Formats: sequence, C-alpha cells, structure tokens
Amino acid sequence: MKFDKNILCIGAGYVGGPTMAMIAHKCPQYKVTVVDINPERISQWNSDELPIYEPGLDEIVKAARGKNLFFGTDIEEGIRDAGIIFVSVNTPTKTFGAGAGMAADLQYWEKTARQILQCSDSPKIIIEKSTLPVKTALAMERILTSTHNGIHFDVLSNPEFLAEGTAISDLESPDRVLIGSRQTERGLKARDALVEIYANWVPEERIITANIWSSELSKLVANAFLAQRISSVNSISALCEITDADITEVAGAIGMDSRIGDKFLKASVGFGGSCFKKDILNLVYLCRHYGLHEVADYWESVVRLNDYQKERFVLRILTDMFNTLAGKRISIFGFAFKADTGDTRESPAIFIAKRLVEEKAELVITDPKALKNAKIDLDGLDGNISYVEDPYDAAVGCHAIAILTEWNLYRELDFEKIYRSMVKPAFIFDGRNIVDHKKLFEIGFNVFPIGKSALTHF
Ligand code: NAD
Ligand code: UGA
Repeated sequence: MKFDKNILCIGAGYVGGPTMAMIAHKCPQYKVTVVDINPERISQWNSDELPIYEPGLDEIVKAARGKNLFFGTDIEEGIRDAGIIFVSVNTPTKTFGAGAGMAADLQYWEKTARQILQCSDSPKIIIEKSTLPVKTALAMERILTSTHNGIHFDVLSNPEFLAEGTAISDLESPDRVLIGSRQTERGLKARDALVEIYANWVPEERIITANIWSSELSKLVANAFLAQRISSVNSISALCEITDADITEVAGAIGMDSRIGDKFLKASVGFGGSCFKKDILNLVYLCRHYGLHEVADYWESVVRLNDYQKERFVLRILTDMFNTLAGKRISIFGFAFKADTGDTRESPAIFIAKRLVEEKAELVITDPKALKNAKIDLDGLDGNISYVEDPYDAAVGCHAIAILTEWNLYRELDFEKIYRSMVKPAFIFDGRNIVDHKKLFEIGFNVFPIGKSALTHF
C-alpha cells in the first residue's frame, strides 16, 4: 500500500509508543514506524503484552499494528525511509561529570542526531519530542549540518504534555499541541507539515505555534509550574496537621478562585514520576548556567519541599508508632508513582520503602500493576520485603498500612475484614487521602491522613 507520509519515531518508550499509536490510529493514510535500540522492548510492542500499562492503549495499538503501525529495531532503514522523524529517546538527569545530579544527560539524544545524519540520503524534518534544555535544537542543527553533505534537515520542537495513566485521552484530546520552529521560510514550511499531521484530529485553535526556543522552554516550565503547585499544597499540609485545619477544605476554598483553579491541588506523600524532578533540576541548572541564581534557588525549593514531604511521612509513621519500627510489619498499598500506571520511576514509594527498611520494619508491598517494577527498584536492599498481589493478603499480620498510590481499588476495600486480620493497635497512614477516615476510625484503626488531624484511640 502507498502511504501519504512515512513517519518514524526513534525511542519506543512511554512517549514514543503511545504518541505514535495515536497518530497511526487517527491517520490511516500515514505509515508510522517506531524503532528502539532495545530489542526486548520492541518484541513486547509486537506481542500481546505491551511493555507499558496505559488505559486504552492496547486497543489502539492492536487495531493499527501491522496495518500502518510498525515496531522494529532497524533504525538505519527507518531513517532512510522516513521524511518525518520524531526523536523520543530518554533524557535523564546526568549522573556523572559536570552538572551531575542536575543537568540533562544528552548522550542518547546526540547519538540519535549523529545516526540520522549518517543514514540520511534525502531531506528530513526532525522533531524533538523528548524534553530537552532550551537551545538544544541549535546543537541538533549543528550536528546535522556538520558534514555539509547537501541534505537539508529542518529541526522542530514539539514537546509532549501527556500524563501517564491518562495518556490516551490526553493524546486524543490535548489541551494544546505546541510546535516550535525557526521563523524562516523553510522552518515555517516544516512547521506546517507537522501542523497538518495533528490537524487530522486536533482542532485548529488547539495547535499553537511558537519560536523554537519558546517551545523548548515551555515544556520545562509547564512541568515546573505543575510540580510547584503540588509542593505548595504539600507545604500547607504540614501546617494543617498541627493547626486542626484540613488541607482538603483549604485546597477546595482556594481552588474556587478562578485565578487559582482547582486542579493539581491534591496533597500527597510527594510527587513522583520520571519527569518533574528531572525537568526542574534541568531548569535550575540552566538558570545557574546563565547566572540567574535567585531564579535557580526558587525552583530548586520545589524539589527540596518534595523531599521534605516524603521524609515527613516516614517520620510521622515512626513517631506515631511509638518511635520504633524495628520488627514491625508495614504493608505498602501502592508502589506506582500514581494510579493507572505500572511506572515506578521516582515513585515516592521507593524512598519511603528504603527509609522504612532502614528503621528495620518488615515490608509487604502490594500494587495491582507495579509489583514487577517494585521488585527491580528494591532489588538488593538488605531487609525483609515481600510482594503480594492481593491487598487483603498483604495486610494480614501487619501493624500498619501506608497508602502510597491512589488506586481506586483501595477506596473500595472491606476494611473491617482488613482490620480483623491485623495486629492491634492497627494504624493506617493515608498518603493520598483516598479512604474514608471517619469510617476507618470507627472500625478501630488509628488513622493518619495527610494535612488533616489524626483520628486516634489513644
Ligand atoms: P523511556 O525511557 O520510556 O523511553 C525512551 C526509549 O528510547 C527507550 O526505550 C530507549 O531504549 C530508547 N533509546 C535510547 N537511546 C536510543 C537510541 N540512540 N536509538 C533508539 N532508541 C533509543 O522514556 P519516556 O518516558 O518515553 O520519555 C522520553 C522523553 O519524553 C523524555 O525526554 C521525557 O522527559 C519526555 N516525556 C516523558 C513523558 C512521560 O510521561 N513519560 C511525558 C512527556 C515527555
Ligand atoms: C506530568 C505532567 O502532568 C505531564 O503534563 C507531563 O507531560 C509529564 O509529567 C512529563 O513530562 O513526563 P505525569 O508525571 O505522568 O505527568 O503525572 P502527573 O499526573 O503530573 O503526576 C505527577 C506526580 O504528581 C504523581 O506522583 C502524582 O501522584 C502527583 N500529584 C499530582 C499530586 O501529588 N497531587 C496532585 O494534585 C497531582
């Protein structure tokens, strides 16, 4: 079959897989190929069990796969065949050398740029889908023109704003699609080619265009603002706990101010996920690089507050359980960094589990989708840790339950049954404020929510 466009995506991860599946689903006239250096990941994309859990993803992948959506490992052939190439490789925080622990590690991205140059024999539009420091497109352009081979490349920035757990609806109905380009005749032509792809399903007014540097920077800033809201509400949760104010009431009251808005104000055990921390640190690093130390300090405090919130949760468990956890069994309900995903990258549960093990607690971890990743995350930790699918089984013989992920499943559990199976006094630390605290207290639990007074029987 002859397709209107050949689109390639390099990087078959949480972004590359779902975004390309959506393009293929909405645009049967395009051929979409996703490639990766990891053959195991590609074979999972080609199997019945996809490498990531995301509601709605299975259906659209399985409907398009083999028709106009292909997953493969032949990156070179993919580059040669495509006119449009999305780059969606990982850009983690650097762990070595200058900027270690702060700057973005651009090695995967740069390898891709060099490979594109090496394998191309026709003009191409290269699209930054990964989250990158502002001005990365300049480096990309420099690499792509370094051999003066006469092939023209246009570099665009098209950051991805999907959130895990809601990726499919975010992609299907995005708040906005942002496309940054050079403001030259060629740059604008390339931009229009990308607009044309999204216009297949995204309303015109939601496709916004900008200069390429604004586009790159907007992605980092969007994540910084979102994370800042969580740290703000979490900071106030600490104050609520000692003043008998209730964070849900406070968030509800401030959120009704239309200038503040009611979304992203849920107090929690801290934000996780692969991007918030890395992107803020990337922003902080950039600000320091440009000598903007006050700006850097401001954004860095968002991450510091998040660390404080996680540690505060652990200390609350310790102090409220009579200042010793040694030999006590604690069941962790939820290991994913949020509900509806199996992803545990930077999950607060990792930090909390490690700290509880340091206190010599025994851990029983349960999660409907993330146990496989939890085992990898805690591999080699010197402690007594078990992994149990069923939350009822996980609670048996435990002194406490710590709810770390807001899985709906936990809202609907029979807590009377759970209470009966636990050691008394039984404690519940609700790091997500998802269960009915009054009801649990009446059952007999000592209940410790986030940002609200504790309900205890002593
Ligand atoms: P990921 O780690 O899940 O996937 C990246 C993939 O790229 C991996 O499968 C890896 O094997 C592959 N890869 C690395 N180098 C390669 C190379 N040279 N050639 C081919 N493949 C290569 O990462 P992700 O979560 O999909 O994130 C990708 C980018 O998107 C990051 O910059 C991230 O900040 C950004 N982002 C992520 C999300 C999210 O929800 N996860 C949302 C928006 C933006
Ligand atoms: C986030 C952004 O929401 C996306 O727009 C962005 O594209 C993505 O990062 C990225 O660049 O990777 P994601 O990390 O998947 O998406 O999930 P979020 O829904 O943003 O949640 C992040 C963390 O904040 C989770 O741990 C969540 O539980 C926590 N959170 C969220 C709260 O503690 N309170 C809230 O009110 C909202």
